[in-house]
Order: sequence, then C-alpha cells, then structure tokens
Amino acid sequence: MRSIQEIETRGHSLRVCVDPEPEQEGRPTLWPSVGEYPIYDPFLYTTMTTDDERNKRFRAALSQLAPDKRILDIGTGQDLLWAREGLQAGARHALALEVIEDAFHKAAANLPSFDPQDRITLLLGQSTHLQFAPRADVCVAEIIGSLAGAEGAAAVLTDARNRHLEPGGLVVPHRAVTLAAAVRLADLLPEQPVAFAEASVPYLRSIFDWHGAPFDVRLRVENPSASALLSEGAPVEVLDFNGDLQTEQRTTTRIAITRPGHMDGVLTWLNLWCLPDEAPLDALHMKTNWATIYLPLFDNPVPVAAGDVLELTFAATLSDDGVHPDYHLSADLHTADGQQHHATLASPHHGGSFRAHPIYQALFPQAD
Ligand SMILES: C[S@@+](CC[C@H](N)C(=O)[O-])C[C@H]1O[C@@H](n2cnc3c(N)ncnc32)[C@H](O)[C@@H]1O
Repeated sequence: MRSIQEIETRGHSLRVCVDPEPEQEGRPTLWPSVGEYPIYDPFLYTTMTTDDERNKRFRAALSQLAPDKRILDIGTGQDLLWAREGLQAGARHALALEVIEDAFHKAAANLPSFDPQDRITLLLGQSTHLQFAPRADVCVAEIIGSLAGAEGAAAVLTDARNRHLEPGGLVVPHRAVTLAAAVRLADLLPEQPVAFAEASVPYLRSIFDWHGAPFDVRLRVENPSASALLSEGAPVEVLDFNGDLQTEQRTTTRIAITRPGHMDGVLTWLNLWCLPDEAPLDALHMKTNWATIYLPLFDNPVPVAAGDVLELTFAATLSDDGVHPDYHLSADLHTADGQQHHATLASPHHGGSFRAHPIYQALFPQAD
C-alpha cells in the first residue's frame, strides 16, 4: 500500500509517495540519503552512537593510535564521541570540530560533564575554513557516507592532512571503498511499494528546505533483499585516507551479470577499514547505520542473463561547495543477444534536475 502526502518546502508544494507501513526490524525501506546534508538531529546521532560494528572499529584504531597523542575529531557531533574515546584511549588532548550550530551547542553544554579535566577544545565551524595550532598527530573523522565519499571525506581529509596534521600524522578511518552491483529497484523492496518510509518524510523536507528547492535526492535502501543482486559488487570509488587520496576520481569497471533477471540500476554500499589489516565493515552484509544507495540508470528494466556485462563508469567531481562530490554514472549493458543498452545518471550533491527519471516521477507524482 502507498499513500500520497503533500509537503511544503520553501514555497513549493510537493506530492510525495509514502509507504505508511511502520518500519519493522529487517524490513526493506526507502529513505532519502541524509548524511551528506547539515540536517543531523538526535535520532540520526543516536543511530551512530549505537552502531556497534562501526564503533568497535573506530575504538580499536584509537586505542592503537591515540595514546600520548594530540587528536583532532572532525565532525564531533552532539556527543563529542571520538574526542572522548580518544582521551579514554590515552590521548593528551582532543580538538573537536562541529559545523552544525545546534549540535555544537549541545556538545558545548555537555562538555563540562564529559571532560572535567579540560582536555577537549571544541570549535564551531567547518574544518576546511578553520585555522588553529598546534597541529594534531591523529585525525579521526567519521564523515563517511553510504556512498563512501558523499559527505566530503576526500576534500576534508586532504585539507586536514595539508593544514591540520603533523607530517606523518595518521587518519582514522584508513580506507573506504564504494562497491556497486546490478539490480532492479523493485527486487530490493519485494512485496512492497516503491515509496519513501513515512518516518523519512521530515528529512526529505529538511533537505529541500536546506537547498531551497526539490531535486532528485539519492535513494537510501535499508535492509535491501540480498537475493536482488544480479552481480558481484565491484569497487567504483576508493578513498585511501593515509595514502594517495584523490578529491576527484573516475573508474570504469566491467561487472559480469551472474544470474538471470531484470536490471534498471545499481546498488552501492560501503566497505570501511579503520585499521589497514582488519576485516572491513561491510554495509550490505552487516547491521550498521550505513545503508545501501540505489542509483537508477535504465528507464525500464532490461532483461539480463548470466554472462552479460555491465560496463560502468563512475565519477566523483567536486560540487560548487568544493567539498561534497557530485556523482556521474555512465553505463553500457552488453547482453548475450548482441544488444547494447546505454544509460547515464547525474547525481549531484544538491540541485540538478527534479523528476528526471521515471523512478523520481513515481516518487514525486504530479496531480492527475
Ligand atoms: C556522520 S556524523 C558523525 C558524528 C560523530 N562523530 C559520530 O561518529 O557519531 C558527521 C558529523 O560531522 C559534521 N561535519 C561534517 N563535515 C565536517 C567538517 N568538515 N567540519 C566540521 N564538522 C563536519 C557533521 O555536521 C556531523 O555532525
């Protein structure tokens, strides 16, 4: 079942297709991707502070790297989480930065109880605009997206390595990779409508209010049906935070279809390493706050069979804010009968088209 909700955003009246079913543990749901916008609230922060798969990896890295060091926590949030954990692990001092005013004020109010010995310095602002001394030895920044680079980690951590870290200083996390596989959206959400979860509608409105107009937001699929994948996952975005970190990148990958079905887009998900030699967090197979992102390509589902090949070019370029990437996809599907199907997708961080693809036309239906 689905219903239509009218929302108002900055003078625009919009119709949104909503799934009114309450969210249940393990049930697939569709949300806008929220992490790359300054709309964090206590609910979103709590999904992170309670994410054990994530937190144990960051903690293990800090316990190895933080003792006796000055640490820099970029994007500390309302809970000053990694600044506090860094001190707990033996750091000498933590400098914590937060760009969202409301989260900063909540953190500032909690600071005396969190840090009675005055070893955390909290600053309001975006790390790329702030100047301070001395430099840190270790930078911890959980600004990783469901599409790994979507929250601006490449530009922010390149800047942090250049201006905020001592030469030879280290970054946590160590590496993030986005994987992509061929799928059909309807198979990710079996026996339910392609519609936004009701609880996600206020976030959708916040994203559009923040930008000033609606646009085709990235689609976050929680608990996708794993049997929907038509191929293995292939790496399409690689961020080596302690290595050759690129603020813009482009890869072309040949993805082999492994079973028959229909495809209309790709599903992407995160693999994350906080330390180089650990087993990565895998956002498709583990219970974590990171979800998968569905990126639509073909207007109509295309039949595929094992042995067909999807040639996928995946590019990240910096948006006009100089931090958050716009993503650009170009796909050629080569099927066994000799046919070739071509599709492209522009998925900007903000702005761009609205209702460009049939999936967005269905999610934002016009009257009549
Ligand atoms: C994914 S949340 C993580 C919050 C907390 N550190 C945690 O791990 O639970 C990212 C936070 O980083 C902040 N942020 C993102 N980029 C930033 C930057 N360049 N400078 C300061 N804060 C930033 C966001 O506003 C948000 O509060």
